[in-house]
Amino acid sequence: MPAISASYPGKIILFGEHAVVYQSHAIAIPVSQVKSHVVIQPLLSAAPGTIEIHALDTHTRANLADLPENHPLGYAVRLTLTHLGVQTTPAFILRASSEIPMSAGLGSGASISCSIIRAVSNFLGKPLPPAEVSALAFEVEKLHHGTPSGVDNTVIAFNQPILFKRGEPMLPVTVGVDLNFLIADTGVKASTGDVVTGVRARWQAEQATYDAFFQQVDTITLAARAEIQSGNIAQIGLLMSENHRCLQSIQVSHPALEVLIEAAVSAGAYGAKLSGAGAGGNMIALVNNETRESVEKAIIHAGAKRVIHTTLARAGQPGGR
Ligand code: MEV
Repeated sequence: MPAISASYPGKIILFGEHAVVYQSHAIAIPVSQVKSHVVIQPLLSAAPGTIEIHALDTHTRANLADLPENHPLGYAVRLTLTHLGVQTTPAFILRASSEIPMSAGLGSGASISCSIIRAVSNFLGKPLPPAEVSALAFEVEKLHHGTPSGVDNTVIAFNQPILFKRGEPMLPVTVGVDLNFLIADTGVKASTGDVVTGVRARWQAEQATYDAFFQQVDTITLAARAEIQSGNIAQIGLLMSENHRCLQSIQVSHPALEVLIEAAVSAGAYGAKLSGAGAGGNMIALVNNETRESVEKAIIHAGAKRVIHTTLARAGQPGGR
């Protein structure tokens, strides 16, 4: 049996984070500049059923049998074996690694789950289609936070820009013009589970107010989908900033995000917002070839710990949809 490898991108949410947990739409895109990787090699000298899991990033170096039930990496392996109906595997070692920063809104957890699920299923000669990889990764997402919408696992498993609504099949997003995004890390780590739990507590206390924000975000997201399709870049930027104001209102921003967003817009970005759970993590700014350099300089000057440039290519272009 040869070694098998699998790799999946990170993601950013362009529109609709948090509201998507409450049945609003979201638009998300894969970010291929950062990836998770899994390599599986047979362990020829070990007894069948032996599964070693090594992940230096999370200091994991254990036999699957010794990992707690709720260990995300082990859970992804076990779910895949159960889904495939495999009782005993040939012995193997699974090595997981990732360039996607953790707890930063870039989908690190969902990406590593997808890589594990794909690598294990391929290793066993039973490759799974994206919808099944996504469905299994969704189960692992529930370990990270109780009520995931499923947007992260879906955009990563399908590896394409999507319009997503909880519980419904995703729809591809057509892109009318190249869109250039700068993704800037505040360096502030935030647990998605904690932020989502906080929003839920506030929603329970002020349901009508929060429902109105989620409805507003839904309207913004659906308008953004039409603008992305027709390539109206200025309008997309304005909608991003409008979405961010809703996110401020539900208290998921952070001073470090505000500083970077303000710097990006002042330096000429079409619009900017937090992306993902917020309370730290990453912001995204929409730029063009003329403003890209000055916006990047401005956000680094304002304290960004790392900036990634990603392009959502127009349909028909290399990498475009
Ligand atoms: C996390 O990337 C996005 C959130 O909307 C949570 C979720 O959709 O499950 C904050």
